[in-house]
Amino acid sequence: MPARKNNRAKVVSFIHMKGGVGKSTCAVNLAATLARDHQRRVLVVDFDPQTNATTSLMPLEAWKQWSLKNGTMADLLEMERGGSRRKSEFKIEDCIIQDVLPDIPGLDLIPSHLQLTFLDLDLAARPGRERIFARKLNKIVSNYDFVFCICAPNLMTATQNALFASDWYLTPMQPDFLSSMGLSMLRDRLSYLRKSLEFNLKSLGVVFSRVRGHLTYHQETMERLKSDKAFKTVHFFETFIPENIKLGEAPMESKPINLYDNRATGAVAFRKLTEEFLERIGG
Ligand SMILES: Nc1ncnc2c1ncn2[C@@H]1O[C@H](COP(=O)(O)OP(=O)(O)OP(=O)(O)O)[C@@H](O)[C@H]1O
Ligand SMILES: [Mg+2]
Repeated sequence: MPARKNNRAKVVSFIHMKGGVGKSTCAVNLAATLARDHQRRVLVVDFDPQTNATTSLMPLEAWKQWSLKNGTMADLLEMERGGSRRKSEFKIEDCIIQDVLPDIPGLDLIPSHLQLTFLDLDLAARPGRERIFARKLNKIVSNYDFVFCICAPNLMTATQNALFASDWYLTPMQPDFLSSMGLSMLRDRLSYLRKSLEFNLKSLGVVFSRVRGHLTYHQETMERLKSDKAFKTVHFFETFIPENIKLGEAPMESKPINLYDNRATGAVAFRKLTEEFLERIGG
């Protein structure tokens, strides 16, 4: 267990309604760079049943072994385990893999589980179902500088749990037409959650991701969004993450880019983004 600090971690959800825009890649690599280069204590929480962030940080077999004996997000959100009522046995501490990467001390993970696919059915009749995670996170939030909640591309119960616990949301997006449609939808919906359900969320900004620099279309879309009146209150990060094959390959070895190939253009971009992130969030 990490030494307890007095300050509360900054909790950030990585979210976009559109799938495949780079949410998991952005969160995993930002977290790994914060821990490795800036000695920040970071807890990555994988809310997505696809388990992409989990398997980007640990081999599939290790995750399977862990989830047999220990807790995952499915346990933390109080889902039943194969008929046996074990949900009450899992405290948040039982679900945290400490130092998930031996080469990057300070980076912890709460892994996801495929079972989360059925979370909405399981918790349908449960009052306050969107607040379970926030309540449990409170116990350990002071152990970290940052908690990163990685969301699936929807606003269902798991995502609501992430958002309710978060101070900020950060939106990675590809600079294309369909992703920009998702951005408007996301902002409308989050403003509803803030007003109606007392979610206390602020927008940290948009990070353009998977950018193909040689495409005029990508360049034009970024410029168009930045000058669009509908997005005038949105902060657009200056640093963008280029499409870089090494970023796609790294999860095959269950490594973030700074361990897989620290000289790749993707790694350089994440170093720059981390500096900008720290400046923006203040930390
Ligand atoms: N900058 C990049 N360069 C190359 N490949 C990338 C980049 N960012 C992400 N990828 C790859 O693109 C795919 C989608 O990325 P990622 O999983 O990060 O998106 P996502 O928004 O989390 O998706 P989902 O909505 O399914 O959770 C993955 O295979 C990932 O490895
Ligand atoms: Mg993802």
